[in-house]
Amino acid sequence: MLKIQFKKTDFKNTKADLGLVFIPKKNLKEKWIESKNFKDFGYEGEGIFLDQQNHILYLGVEDFSVDALREGSFQAICFVKKMPFKNLKLGIYGDGMLMQGIFLGLLLGMYEFNKYKSKTKISALKEIFIVNEGISKDIPKDLAKNLISAEILAQSIVLVRDAINTPPEDATPLFLAKLAESIAKENKLTCKIGDEKFLAKEKMGAFLAVNRASIHPPRLIHLTYKPKKPKARIVIVGKGLTYDSGGLSLKPADYMVTMKADKSGGCAVLGVINAVAKMGINVELHAIVGATENMIGGNAYKPDDVLLSREGKTIEVRNTDAEGRLVLADCLSYAQDIKPDCLIDFATLTGACVVGLGEYTSGVMGHNEELKTRFENAALKSGELATRLSFNKHLRKLIDSKIADVSNVASSRYGGAITAGMFLSEFIREEYKDKWLHIDIAGPAYVERDWDINTYGASGAGVRACVQFLLDFVKKD
Ligand code: BES
Ligand code: ZN
Ligand code: ZN
Repeated sequence: MLKIQFKKTDFKNTKADLGLVFIPKKNLKEKWIESKNFKDFGYEGEGIFLDQQNHILYLGVEDFSVDALREGSFQAICFVKKMPFKNLKLGIYGDGMLMQGIFLGLLLGMYEFNKYKSKTKISALKEIFIVNEGISKDIPKDLAKNLISAEILAQSIVLVRDAINTPPEDATPLFLAKLAESIAKENKLTCKIGDEKFLAKEKMGAFLAVNRASIHPPRLIHLTYKPKKPKARIVIVGKGLTYDSGGLSLKPADYMVTMKADKSGGCAVLGVINAVAKMGINVELHAIVGATENMIGGNAYKPDDVLLSREGKTIEVRNTDAEGRLVLADCLSYAQDIKPDCLIDFATLTGACVVGLGEYTSGVMGHNEELKTRFENAALKSGELATRLSFNKHLRKLIDSKIADVSNVASSRYGGAITAGMFLSEFIREEYKDKWLHIDIAGPAYVERDWDINTYGASGAGVRACVQFLLDFVKKD
């Protein structure tokens, strides 16, 4: 990771290979003419140019909001890391939270997933100096703490991205269990790993059915972080489909590619508990991952099967590609036994959510309007995009089954993100209905076009939003 250091000197008097300056996008051209360095003008469209005489990189930003500066910092690093500069200096642009955004953008600008490339270039860039000058003349208090928070978030997001990007033949349920064990060891968490015998003992008939045709055994991962006097007990659950072929309701070839990312929810909850433990947030946090593949074979579960879930409800399978909700139904049942004050699941659950909200936004569902709003606000504050989707009784009817308690797919092709959420709601007990949130991260979890602080591959969606939600949750009362 990049080393970010504070300097007591001002911009001019700090020695560095390059200075980074954010300016309004509309002033870029002016700066360029002023610099009389026409030859070095490049990347006009990108809103960036390098003044080679004065060793300054100007980066044009829409405004000086935290969102614009986080993204600007990210772009600056993406540009600089390919050049021979070893270090970079930067002023202070606002309060601690704004600087935290900048730090995060800088740190994630270095992210690349190169584990499977035989040749990789190592960047010369190693250090960033935060100098005692900038738009904001006052040095924000606790800036060092903001840096630590950004470093923890960046490290957690990198961990999540690396796991999701790992190909499915390597990133199996056992791989996720080992990853969880290493996170537990590093942060002194309790780690419980349930194998297929455990799932059978727990009567997780829906989870087990999804796993049946896979050569990789399933795992239920349960990590616990318990501070001395926690303010609340929160359980987060993640869909950990290490591969989703669709099962017998096989996905078309084009749709199957990227389904290694169907473990994004599970990886996100591992990242969240890593960050929460390192930040020392005062909540008792449980992270649960339902890890399995969804494959085909002679022993595969089938459309027309009826499954018995841990909650005792029967499920008619009408499409084996709607497998995430089956795994989550049993994991959510297990999660409620922990008696949470708040229960949140993260899942790449439906293509319909991506159709409805676009690739950048997560869907927030549940029965408690206030809780949903709080999550949405926390997400936006953290720099992620999320919006609420409402349940209604008419959509509920679409998952009625003629032969079982509920069907795993809706009888209409419309409203798929919500009917999937309402399916999960069937497995939430009355007393937890108002404490539960379902976050569909199918859109932002995996990136095929660079956007914001994300490049091709896994984004780590859910991590920042959830950590911010927990920080706000502790502050609330
Ligand atoms: N993992 C997919 C959802 C998904 C699709 C995530 C695209 C990311 C990008 C999920 O298991 C699935 O296949 N859902 C089906 C549900 C349908 C059969 C009711 C879908 O969305 O098509
Ligand atoms: Zn599926
Ligand atoms: Zn899936």
